[in-house]
Amino acid sequence: MRARFLLTSLGGLAAMAAVALILPAAGQADFVKGSPGLGDPYFPNAGNGGYDVGRYYLRLHYKPNVNRLRAVANIHARAIKNLSRFDLDFRHLRISRLTVNGKKARIKRRGQELKITPRHGLRKGKKFTVRVRYRGHPRPVTDPDGAKDGWIPTDDGAFVASEPQGAPSWFPCNDYPTDKARYRIRVTVPKGKVAVANGTLVKRVVHKRRKTFVWDENSPMATYLATVTTGKFGVEQSRANGIPSYVAIDPREAMGAAEALSKMPAMLRLQERSFGAYPFGTTGAAVDHAPSVGYALETQTRPIYDTVPSQATVAHELAHQWFGDSVSLKRWRQIWLNEGFATWAEWQWQEHDGGVSVKKRFNDLYRSHGAGDTNFWNPPPGDPGGAEHLFDLTIYVRGGMALEALRQEVGAPTFMRILRDWLRDHAYGNAGIKQFIELAEADSGQDLDHFFQEWLYKRGKPRNWGNSALREDHVAVTRAHGPPSAKPSGGGAIGQLRLSPPAGWLAP
Ligand code: TRP
Ligand code: ZN
Repeated sequence: MRARFLLTSLGGLAAMAAVALILPAAGQADFVKGSPGLGDPYFPNAGNGGYDVGRYYLRLHYKPNVNRLRAVANIHARAIKNLSRFDLDFRHLRISRLTVNGKKARIKRRGQELKITPRHGLRKGKKFTVRVRYRGHPRPVTDPDGAKDGWIPTDDGAFVASEPQGAPSWFPCNDYPTDKARYRIRVTVPKGKVAVANGTLVKRVVHKRRKTFVWDENSPMATYLATVTTGKFGVEQSRANGIPSYVAIDPREAMGAAEALSKMPAMLRLQERSFGAYPFGTTGAAVDHAPSVGYALETQTRPIYDTVPSQATVAHELAHQWFGDSVSLKRWRQIWLNEGFATWAEWQWQEHDGGVSVKKRFNDLYRSHGAGDTNFWNPPPGDPGGAEHLFDLTIYVRGGMALEALRQEVGAPTFMRILRDWLRDHAYGNAGIKQFIELAEADSGQDLDHFFQEWLYKRGKPRNWGNSALREDHVAVTRAHGPPSAKPSGGGAIGQLRLSPPAGWLAP
């Protein structure tokens, strides 16, 4: 910056003198330490600075009866600074050998930080490989909200669900959603068990007493979406709405699981028509018997369920493949971009399936929760207020309501266009709430500042929706009682249905 200023503001000899002064300093290899975190206010140590991972090759051997993991991680990365040292995120497990570009490196561990000093500095722009050999008894991470994530042992294997910070409980990584990478996961388990990971099952090798599963995920994936859920599973490979599907089910859950899982093709059809093409090459599910977990997770391509899921939950996790997995947040406090959207998609499926309409659900919720019901309205979904509130019910329910309110505010066709533009513009990348608001304003031509303030950021019950709630059959068309920012806009809710999902749930 300063050099540029000198060059442009001074002339002739003076500029050359400035260059002469500056070049030697820049030419010297200044090697620096990569940062131990990426500045997330909720998880300051999550992720690391100075490099970017391109691919993880994970080779895991797991013995469920003693919960023992033996593994090698090969991490292919590129330095984005001249690095004398860098960190990986990694917890608990014992490292027996670590090399960088084939040479043994010095390591130090502090909490989740694995500090690595390679024999030679890593030059900016250059690729490098970290190989970590490790073993031990993996255990979950306890989140600020008290939930467990990461490697969660079950009675016959492990349920591996790493949102928001569990990935380092089973592999060394740059644990942040902005550093997406491709994965090859090779996992060996005792015969009779199945290990389910992300993407395509490219190979299965049967040994005498063990079995190896090789999984490939070739679309960029955030660390928290990786899994190797293991157990005694029945497996079914098929197609769902044309997408290759791999479904693994714990026999104890098989009876109950069939109902919701059989709807997957229809859910994918609805969601592809609504959100655009399914973003990945494979789909499916793993339905485990892990009653202690208490949640399902949208692991990329293959959601995992701790027990028999409802249809709503399956629709929710499938919608996350677009909202969260393909388009991922930049900061954990933007979790509304995941949960609000997946919740709205749940409601959309239920309406499509003949249940209550999204609009009626919105109106019922709005009506039945007064301003005094602060637990229902707080924290506001755009600002959870702390890591312990990331998965509070308001992020989901008020978050889904915010989207339905937006649909009423801008009209259904514009709303669907906003969703599709969002997913197209940021596919396989990251984006934040501000960008969503800007896009909504650009697509609608409306000033939505006040609207989003009310629905996403202000504590308490959003005002001015009372009258709309009473006129549930007309709100989307007239928008007569929207908040002050509401402007009449062209294109009623009924027009332009061609690109859109079934008129049944779009029409007011
Ligand atoms: N993202 C998951 C879902 O809604 C839920 C989830 C993941 C979760 N990790 C969690 C909930 C930790 C509570 C605690 O599908
Ligand atoms: Zn969710």
